[in-house]
Amino acid sequence: MARFENKRVLVTGAAGGIGQCVVELFRREGAAVAAADRDVSQLSADALLPGDLTDPDYSDTLPAEAAEHLGGLDILINNAGLMRRGPVTDTSDEDFKLSAAVNIEAPFRLSRAAVPIMSANGGGAIVNTSSCWGIHPGPDHAVYCMTKAAIASLTQCMGRDHAHQNIRVNAVCPNEVDTPMLRTGFELRGLNADTAISQLNQSVPLGRIANATDIADVIAFLASDEARYLCGSLVEVNGGKAVA
Ligand SMILES: NC(=O)c1ccc[n+]([C@@H]2O[C@H](COP(=O)([O-])OP(=O)(O)OC[C@H]3O[C@@H](n4cnc5c(N)ncnc54)[C@H](O)[C@@H]3O)[C@@H](O)[C@H]2O)c1
Repeated sequence: MARFENKRVLVTGAAGGIGQCVVELFRREGAAVAAADRDVSQLSADALLPGDLTDPDYSDTLPAEAAEHLGGLDILINNAGLMRRGPVTDTSDEDFKLSAAVNIEAPFRLSRAAVPIMSANGGGAIVNTSSCWGIHPGPDHAVYCMTKAAIASLTQCMGRDHAHQNIRVNAVCPNEVDTPMLRTGFELRGLNADTAISQLNQSVPLGRIANATDIADVIAFLASDEARYLCGSLVEVNGGKAVA
């Protein structure tokens, strides 16, 4: 039997680098998947639920929408996120509000809506995407680090509060991953992304930064029965590289 057979999964940020990999992995391993992102037109999934996570109505109703399309909801993957760079003094009100809305408020709303659905069905799993930078803050990304610390804390709180409902809440905390988020950051700074990533690879003890599959595999593990005794864990996936 496939690992996620009969499981119903909602993935946010499904069109992104890590998100696409997560959707494919769960479907390959037997799950029915609802894919949520602003533009889902290029995705294959069992339900396509486009929308903007800065809209509270969308976030509040997305788990029920997914459950309606899939016949229930067992797993929520809070993967959508965005990165605004710079110290606090270079961060606009707009950057702050957008970062907080997507990286903190949306997973809060989605989780709040998903818990009763999962609980009524005997339990479930939520996997959040924090970051190594949410645990060990790096330089010049103050608001990004702050939001990723908040989702790490939410994970720990919910991991404790909802274990009695047989709902496990855990987070993956990647260091650098080769996705559009990282590449556009280099391009915005006028750097060639391939060259910059080659240099970055040398800073990692394992010899390369992560690819999306490295992270999707850990997300799937945290959502699976193999992680049945993990509640509120923050799992760093960093190839041996500490945040400098
Ligand atoms: N790439 C990295 O180096 C890295 C490292 C640590 C953590 N992360 C985290 O991993 C997660 C996935 O990132 P990724 O690297 O795949 O980046 P990505 O930019 O490829 O994907 C992020 C996805 O989130 C979606 N999204 C953003 N704002 C949204 C909104 N308002 N409404 C709906 N969807 C929205 C985007 O459309 C995009 O598809 C993020 O939470 C990110 O913070 C990434």
